Amino acid sequence: MVFLSAFALFLGALVVPARSGVTYPNCANGPLRSNLVCDTSAAPEARAAALVAAMSNNEKLANLINNSPGVSRLGLSAYQWWNEALHGVAHNRGITWGGQFSAATQFPQAITTSAAFDDPLIERIGIIISTEARAFANNGRAHLDFWTPNVNPFRDPRWGRGHETPGEDAFRNKKWAEAFVSGMQGTEATHRVVATCKHYAAYDLENAGSTTRFNFDAKVSTQDLAEYYLPPFQQCARDSKVGSIMCSYNAVNGVPACASPYLIDTILRKHWNWTDQNQYVVSDCDAVYYLGNANGGHRYKSSYAAAIGASLEAGCDNMCWATGGTTPDPASAFNSQQFSQATLDKAMLRQMQGLVRAGYFDGPNSLYRNLGAADVNTQTAQGTALKAAEEGIVLLKNNGILPMPLNGSSFQVAMVGFWANAADKMLGGYSGSPPFNHDAVTAARSMGVTVNYVNGPLTQSSADTSAAVNAAQKSNVVIFFGGIDNTVEKESQDRTSIAWPSGQLAMIQRLAQTGKPVIVVRMGTHVDDTPLLSLPNVKAILWAGYPGQDGGTAVMNIITGAASPAGRLPITVYPSSYTNQAPYTNMALRPSGSYPGRTYRWYKDAVFPFGYGLHYTNFSVSVQGFSTTFSIADLLDSCKGSAVYLDLCPFPSVPISVTNTGSWASDYVALGFLAGDFGPSPRPIKTLATYKRVFGVQPGQTQTAELEWKLESLARVDEKGNRVLYPGTYTLLLDQPTLANVTFTLTGEEAVLDQWPQP
Ligand SMILES: *[C@@H]1O[C@H](CO)[C@@H](O)[C@H](O)[C@H]1NC(C)=O
Ligand SMILES: *[C@@H]1O[C@H](CO)[C@@H](O)[C@H](O)[C@H]1NC(C)=O
Ligand SMILES: *[C@@H]1O[C@H](CO)[C@@H](O)[C@H](O)[C@H]1NC(C)=O
Ligand SMILES: *[C@@H]1O[C@H](CO)[C@@H](O)[C@H](O)[C@H]1NC(C)=O
Repeated sequence: MVFLSAFALFLGALVVPARSGVTYPNCANGPLRSNLVCDTSAAPEARAAALVAAMSNNEKLANLINNSPGVSRLGLSAYQWWNEALHGVAHNRGITWGGQFSAATQFPQAITTSAAFDDPLIERIGIIISTEARAFANNGRAHLDFWTPNVNPFRDPRWGRGHETPGEDAFRNKKWAEAFVSGMQGTEATHRVVATCKHYAAYDLENAGSTTRFNFDAKVSTQDLAEYYLPPFQQCARDSKVGSIMCSYNAVNGVPACASPYLIDTILRKHWNWTDQNQYVVSDCDAVYYLGNANGGHRYKSSYAAAIGASLEAGCDNMCWATGGTTPDPASAFNSQQFSQATLDKAMLRQMQGLVRAGYFDGPNSLYRNLGAADVNTQTAQGTALKAAEEGIVLLKNNGILPMPLNGSSFQVAMVGFWANAADKMLGGYSGSPPFNHDAVTAARSMGVTVNYVNGPLTQSSADTSAAVNAAQKSNVVIFFGGIDNTVEKESQDRTSIAWPSGQLAMIQRLAQTGKPVIVVRMGTHVDDTPLLSLPNVKAILWAGYPGQDGGTAVMNIITGAASPAGRLPITVYPSSYTNQAPYTNMALRPSGSYPGRTYRWYKDAVFPFGYGLHYTNFSVSVQGFSTTFSIADLLDSCKGSAVYLDLCPFPSVPISVTNTGSWASDYVALGFLAGDFGPSPRPIKTLATYKRVFGVQPGQTQTAELEWKLESLARVDEKGNRVLYPGTYTLLLDQPTLANVTFTLTGEEAVLDQWPQP
């Protein structure tokens, strides 16, 4: 033994360290050369089927897990399905950093890019991330499957992973997913990389006391499921043809998501027609372990083998396991008849077809194989990362202090708080190594600003404020950087409080007492700003979330006016008392009794509502004529034949004009919310129905734009989950708060746009 390990060490020193990245099969003269899988003119399904036919059962069984060993007999090398790229190529299992691949562009987290309400931007981000990811893969430093995006609606402000998502609104998340998946996979028949929409479904809790993501049984009504929790996944599966979907840890109405025939087969594959390209479902890591008899799990099955069988039979095709669980043993589960031969073959076919579609077997001259180091960290990518952060920053309060050039002679700025120079924190969860990391202090100094920097507390309830006060007293203005970070909100860790951390609040209050104007830059997702709103010396509040590698530059550009704020909140800012009124585990969206309901659609007492955001100028907006009556029958007749799914039928777009009535050039996000007394009761306050970011409106200038939408935005979901177009009077409300509205009427009989399969 001793001799052997010494020998292994010796060998290891001679051998170039193995990279864990992809090794493309050799179709020119490897063992697969005469297999149909190498024939690029054949149909993807036939190619994948030919490969699966060449595999023995034992070879198939060994490859049902994320770290697949491959099939050396066939020249298929090991393949790690687990690669992450939530907001840039990330540090993770399947990705090896080094050499020319020591850095990759790190964009803001989805919660920040979502606030830009600029979907072409989201698509460009997806293109850049997947281009860099593919370049890593081509150089043996990553694989072709990336488990991104995270599109679960951010239901409860306590959720530790909310910042990974585009926010609380199902429609916003759906549109964000559409843009991002299109960017990641590309629009060619060959995918640049395979994207994975996660986590299916109703996953938005890490740990609430003894309830954890591994054992939480989310009780979700059919109405809420169809209306709120699933639309982003419908977009991914049915409309964006995403290559893969990840099933989640939690159970839904008693059945763990990764073993749910209703979720995976009835809804995902059949109702959404996701069978057409044989895409694969992967389990969240150890989800299959926790649905068996593991401690802390669902105890849905009495053995690991039975859990594997239940999961594969439900339609999960690849089991990810991590350190928390033990390795699944598909072979013994198969040998004890926990799943069938047909299921095994189908799972293999789906996995392999994903690789076929990503060009894995297409040879060195195929599409995207030329991407390399020169395509990573390009100038365009760096510029897009900065622009995304600037576009996503939201101005929440401004008494006129901003914009503020910080460059006058003898001008000094106190920058206080741990976030001010916390370069690494700006990236948030699931990050890679950025080419640079510009925090706000670094950015300000590089702009020539004289900075007096003082650290501040994160969660400590009291902190010595004397250094901060000294810095304030010798400065002209104080910029406090605070809120929470991703040591407080993160995977596996939810919050119990959404109040401003008390030590930080005390420091802000003390700084305000100096008489110096205080600007607060809030980072992280969500804390209750109420105490700051009543402090007159807090002159401005900005929210930047997790703004990525150039977040500090973006914040300083906004403060100085080099860029104008036009982002809008993709989440409700709740009062801190909300967590006492809404039990975390209550999944219901609608209010009832003392339960206040969730999201801007139902909750009335927000500190800042979804869609809120100020500018350095004022805007007026108006609707330029809009037909007032539409017949439901005519709307459907004119669409049948062109749209397969009625909810995707277009509705006439709304022409608007936007006028900058102030004196500062700015983008403007036109938000259109729908309200009206139609459909089932109770009725939402309003629902986001359409939006468009209008760029660079100059002072005094009027720009026109078209708000485009589809029938899905007019429909409401009934108790059975059907999406129905109702006759009635509709009001489109522009902006938050409302600046203009237009009313129109739908006449005739109600029509079901999407008939929901019952559980
Ligand atoms: C479902 O997918 C199949 C196979 O690709 C396709 O022929 C069919 O038209 C699709 N159905 C709908 C409603 O899109
Ligand atoms: C100060 O900054 C503003 C805008 O940020 C710029 O227009 C102005 O030229 C700068 N002034 C000096 C003296 O650098
Ligand atoms: C916007 O308009 C309001 C009301 O007229 C005014 O008080 C405010 O100063 C204006 N804000 C800007 C940035 O021009
Ligand atoms: C719509 O605008 C009109 C004025 O044009 C106003 O009287 C009405 O209250 C507005 N309705 C809503 C729901 O905001």
